[in-house]
Amino acid sequence: MKNSRIIEQIRPFFEPSSVVVVGASKHVDKAGHVIFKNFVENKRTGLFKGELYPINPREESILGYKCFPSISKLPVNEIELVVIVVPAASVPQVMMEAKEKYAKAAIIISSGFSEVGNRELENEVKRIAVEGNIRVLGPNCLGVYDPTSGVDTLFLPVTKTLISGEEVIATPRPKEGSIAVVTQSGAFGVAALDYLAGRQLGISKFVSFGNRVDLDESDLLNYFLHDERTKVILMYIESVRDGNKFVETAKNVSRVKPIIVLKTGKTKAGAKAALSHTASIAGSDEVYNAAFLQTGIIRAQNMNEFFNMGKALSMQPPARGRNICIITDAGGPGIMVADECELRGLKIEGLSEESFRKLEIMRESGQIPKFASLSNPIDLTGSVTSDMIVKVTEIVYHDKKVDGIILLGLHHVPGLQEDYVDRVALIASSREKPIVVCDIGETEMALYVRRKFEKFGIPAYASPEEAAYAMYALCYYGEYLNSVNR
Ligand code: COA
Repeated sequence: MKNSRIIEQIRPFFEPSSVVVVGASKHVDKAGHVIFKNFVENKRTGLFKGELYPINPREESILGYKCFPSISKLPVNEIELVVIVVPAASVPQVMMEAKEKYAKAAIIISSGFSEVGNRELENEVKRIAVEGNIRVLGPNCLGVYDPTSGVDTLFLPVTKTLISGEEVIATPRPKEGSIAVVTQSGAFGVAALDYLAGRQLGISKFVSFGNRVDLDESDLLNYFLHDERTKVILMYIESVRDGNKFVETAKNVSRVKPIIVLKTGKTKAGAKAALSHTASIAGSDEVYNAAFLQTGIIRAQNMNEFFNMGKALSMQPPARGRNICIITDAGGPGIMVADECELRGLKIEGLSEESFRKLEIMRESGQIPKFASLSNPIDLTGSVTSDMIVKVTEIVYHDKKVDGIILLGLHHVPGLQEDYVDRVALIASSREKPIVVCDIGETEMALYVRRKFEKFGIPAYASPEEAAYAMYALCYYGEYLNSVNR
């Protein structure tokens, strides 16, 4: 199928002109209530601009909207997106009615299909979808969250009330940003949204595709290749449906934007769990590794890597090579970064002669401590000041031998003031090479410094290892681009 056609077919999931929620409910603890309310809220604020219709045979109206007993009783001849939140057995009937109204897209939230062995029911849904030319996400999925268009089919309420009566954020919706999240597991997807929102990271779109009776991970990659708001794609999968299609698509996408994959079901126990979760055959891990290698996909080994690499690639340019310079005011953490870099195959070589000479002059003239170490890592010690870190960063940043910088500005030392963040950000604003920073700590100043760096688009990490593998992702992707553009 031509790319442009699939993109046009996926568009109604994110920008529907009309949405029908089948199973909309007045009962606040039901999935159909939360989903319908999301749309009502987003329509009230003007974010969601499409038409909205609740379907429920028992109600006259829901949240101020006239309710219809079935899709066939709707006062319009055509609809774009149908969100289905009724028990699995009723889904084929709903799909038949959606077909009669020329629906373009359906999100089937309901569980109870192939993941529990009910393949027949899933095949029936598929048959109706094909006949009606309806593109489908799910079943057994969460669907879509798009912070720009206001489409929000997540049945997880934004807030919950504690026993004390206090209302707290339970499932935050991240702000607009440049990370696309594509996930086979809905639960992990929601956890990802919570994590990203908590770290103040924005997303372009979120899609949970569950049992993928129709649209699969490759179709979605294809869509995000052309989505202007997406700069990096984070994908959680338990298996790939069509290996060849995936490899071809991922190759095309990786040439333009990075894909980071968290692939689970690596072990026998994990593979068994994947089978009963989304009916996925997890397959051999070696085969996946080989496919990822061919396509430039960056494989994250765990959740922390997944998000930390995604953050780095969404904020910084890829590195041209593997030679990394570490600038630190903390000896031990500097060694920790050096260790992790080398373990990941990055090089911690020296600087160019010219830069080294400049640093020596600074040391001789007392601009940096006599006892500072000028080999890589460059250790400015606890006597560091903002001026020192900024001047050294400037020299290293313009050194052609250096492909990327990891800056450890531990804020605890007396001479390092907040202004260094703004000044380092100014140097990095030319985006010649990637820079990532680390400031260790979980109290006010550390959180403040990290957030401030990130407002300037410099990814900041709470541990030396995180900073190192974030840089590894920037180098890995940079090398892949070099290899395909040669
Ligand atoms: N057309 C329109 N409305 C219908 C309907 C139909 N064919 N069948 C039922 N409804 C109405 C019901 O009357 C009910 O409304 P009410 O609250 O006013 O009584 C509402 O739709 C929901 O139906 P109900 O039978 O109460 O189901 P439920 O809300 O308990 O559960 C699901 C529905 C879809 C949430 C549930 O079956 C399910 O699959 N849960 C798991 C979802 C999941 O985890 N998905 C994967 C995420 S990763």
